[in-house]
Amino acid sequence: MKNKSLVSINDYSKEDYFKILDLAEEFQKNPKQKLLENHVIASLFFEPSTRTRLSFETAIQRLGGKVIGFSESGSTSVSKGESLKDTILTVSRYADLIVMRHPVEGSARYASVVSDKPIINAGDGSNQHPTQCLLDLYSIRKTQGSLENLNLFLVGDLKYGRTVHSLLIAMSEFNPVFNFVSPPSLRMPQEYKDFLDKKGIKYYEHNEINDNIKHADIIYVTRVQRERFSDPMDYEKVKNAYVIKNKMLEGTKDNLKILHPLPRVNEIDTDVDTNPKAYYFDQAENGVYARMALMCIILGVK
Ligand code: CP
Repeated sequence: MKNKSLVSINDYSKEDYFKILDLAEEFQKNPKQKLLENHVIASLFFEPSTRTRLSFETAIQRLGGKVIGFSESGSTSVSKGESLKDTILTVSRYADLIVMRHPVEGSARYASVVSDKPIINAGDGSNQHPTQCLLDLYSIRKTQGSLENLNLFLVGDLKYGRTVHSLLIAMSEFNPVFNFVSPPSLRMPQEYKDFLDKKGIKYYEHNEINDNIKHADIIYVTRVQRERFSDPMDYEKVKNAYVIKNKMLEGTKDNLKILHPLPRVNEIDTDVDTNPKAYYFDQAENGVYARMALMCIILGVK
């Protein structure tokens, strides 16, 4: 994993996940370790972000590293027509590691090919969000005690939601049962269902949240990704398809946790926030530890 880019969660094995999760656990217990004191890390965000960018930057600062970068490309020479290739070739002369979010699917893979410094994909269009996946795995293991044999409900925009694509691939290593709850127009793409079929993993598709959630270990809720719709009217039709409310969680399993990569729009009522089963803000915090671990492993300092 040293000096290797993380573009897709497929780039890592089950053993790699454990290595990262174990180190993240160590950082949660003792975050004040100045392991990146001699490193400069670039944070290039061509698309909006709160958690991913700020948790990466928090992780770098806590580890004593330095951050360069931008949170919107309008202030860079991209606005003068500079290509992604030239931007990456330039930044790779300054930084030891590049964290990049970009709206175009495949952009992170392309950057990893042109760069001689490792690239961490912080989200490429509706394709993949592998570091979110690592913190999701961390959150699931922390709350369930294990990643094995869980009943996972993925709810919302399963078509454009890149976090659920990465999570499906990673969790498929741990004998899960998946329940996909989405409007018909936002179903899990066929390629991911084919992937599960090949691995012999069971999944069920639902239009509605029903009594089945009483058997869930994890309900992973996603926002309908307005920015990926070409027709705003199509977004209007599905934007409030599901709203999780406290009442719906009555009779659910004691170990159930509600996860959401955030940002939330309407899909989880704020009355759920004080329910002990709500875990999404802890999940966002876990992003700092998972990203600390990932960067230290890639940079070979741990
Ligand atoms: N979960 C996530 O990617 O959030 P941001 O878009 O705020 O980074």
